[in-house]
Amino acid sequence: MATWSAPGKVFLFGEHAVVFGKPGIAMAIKPRVYVTVRKARNPARVNSPYIESCFEEMGVTGSVYIHSQLPSSSGLGSSAAVTVATLFAINDEFNLKYDRNQLASMAYKIEKKVQHGRASPTDTYVSTFGGLVLIKDNKRRRMPPENFNIVIGNTLVSHKTTELVAMVSEFRKNNPLVVDPILDAIEAVTTRSMHNFHNLKVLGRYMDVNHALLEALGVGHPMLSRLVSASRAAGAYGAKMTGAGGGGCMIALCPKRSKSKVAGAIEAADGRAIITTIDTEGARKEGENGRENYLKARR
Ligand code: PMV
Repeated sequence: MATWSAPGKVFLFGEHAVVFGKPGIAMAIKPRVYVTVRKARNPARVNSPYIESCFEEMGVTGSVYIHSQLPSSSGLGSSAAVTVATLFAINDEFNLKYDRNQLASMAYKIEKKVQHGRASPTDTYVSTFGGLVLIKDNKRRRMPPENFNIVIGNTLVSHKTTELVAMVSEFRKNNPLVVDPILDAIEAVTTRSMHNFHNLKVLGRYMDVNHALLEALGVGHPMLSRLVSASRAAGAYGAKMTGAGGGGCMIALCPKRSKSKVAGAIEAADGRAIITTIDTEGARKEGENGRENYLKARR
């Protein structure tokens, strides 16, 4: 039996613009998915195309147990975390000896297959390697970690990344003179933010600007605006939607002392709050105590 876990992710800056080759910054977050795999001739499994594809890709059969701290379909990379943790657990249980890079590529391939061609390589990369990740020229690399205090607000409004990406692409095709300067401005905010990681007030201000630019691209939602405003009023340095928008989640960058207040404001505005920070580990073996670690993390 092998138990592995993998973290979720948020985009700090640059979502949507990365689709057009602009830079972006993503970060692995503490909530994780825990997956236990056991060799079995008659496997007991949750019915998931991601899990099925993991076993198919690895050419073995086994049972799977999943415990997730990540809400699904909310833009926090839960499908990538499930896929990554499952591949690492299969690799371990069957002693297949793939390395981290190979498993990251395999996870992306599976996400692409299950999502019919459109998947974000960022999700699987961040979940595999953890930490703070710079996306530049369509490549990803880890940056030195930063201990940002983040509160996530889940709108509980479902969204479809594929549709939102297609919508922005269409908007750009018909209005390049309007949309290109917005994408350039997002690029400028992302680039400037990297020079201000230690100035949280400036970074928060950039998040506010990034949020407004995403709204200008048409991917806002009234619930996102509501949670963003509530967070700012409760003392966040800044707040923005994260991921594809149109629902899903927002993030607020907070002073340490205001985390609970911001989380309370999000809940009072009908969102679901998660207080979190960076996860530097990526996919991780949970040893014999995998299940206990999961339960401990939940307490
Ligand atoms: O909502 P998510 O977490 O799937 O993020 C999508 C981010 C986009 O930039 C809109 C698309 C992408 O592939 O990077």
